[in-house]
Amino acid sequence: MSGASATRPQITLKLATSLDGRIATASGNSKWITGEAARAEGHRLRAAHDAVLVGSGTLMADDPELIARTDPPPARQPLRVVADSRGQTPASAKLLTTLDKGPVAIATLETTNLDHWPSHRELSFWMLPRDARTGSISLPELLNSADRAGLKSLMIEGGGRLAASFIRDGLVDRIEWFRAPILLGGDGLPGLGPLGLEKVVDAPTFERVRVKEVGVDLWESYVRKA
Ligand SMILES: NC(=O)c1ccc[n+]([C@@H]2O[C@H](COP(=O)([O-])OP(=O)(O)OC[C@H]3O[C@@H](n4cnc5c(N)ncnc54)[C@H](OP(=O)(O)O)[C@@H]3O)[C@@H](O)[C@H]2O)c1
Repeated sequence: MSGASATRPQITLKLATSLDGRIATASGNSKWITGEAARAEGHRLRAAHDAVLVGSGTLMADDPELIARTDPPPARQPLRVVADSRGQTPASAKLLTTLDKGPVAIATLETTNLDHWPSHRELSFWMLPRDARTGSISLPELLNSADRAGLKSLMIEGGGRLAASFIRDGLVDRIEWFRAPILLGGDGLPGLGPLGLEKVVDAPTFERVRVKEVGVDLWESYVRKA
């Protein structure tokens, strides 16, 4: 976890996949893989975290609002963060047209021009250095920004490439995995992008701490093994 402060937020990775671990069809369609009950739990998980994070790929494909819709609504909406190194998020993205519903942070490279984004008291920018390996923003530095913003918990909501980067950097403490009884096949998008592993013995390992049926889906919770 080189470079991340000792007090970084606790990180949850939330996945909603088919039985075969896919988060979307080959064309990128992901609505809806899991059922209503699992999605309601997903909103409760959002509300229980200080911040939620998606990659720019998910933002461009799904245009999510990332609002926690719980009944009753949470006392405070989590900070909605997008990892967007190249500043692709359009000003018309739902994230930016719903600033009255909750705050947003765009985590981007320190060289990104911010001119095309609105100036709003609920919109902040985390200007970050590049990670030499991925060419995208540095995740330890993203977590330093989260720490400086006072965030104690952060939930990654995809997609697969961003999730894989966090796993590769050893930064995921907990996985909340909702698994739907459908099969999307090998041409579907994987819940986790490439990890570049050569040996099974090097695989990041998690311990299952809970299994629960939610509607037709299964909700498995895992914590990282020391
Ligand atoms: N079923 C579900 O629950 C679910 C949830 C989420 C997404 N999805 C689906 O997943 C698909 C998108 O997934 P995806 O894997 O293509 O995209 P993604 O993981 O959402 O975003 C990848 C992008 O994030 C940016 N990024 C910034 N910092 C990064 C870092 N350190 N490491 C890796 N990426 C970083 C990179 O672009 P820059 O370099 O330009 O920043 C990268 O190309 C969509 O089809 C969506 O529908 C499904």
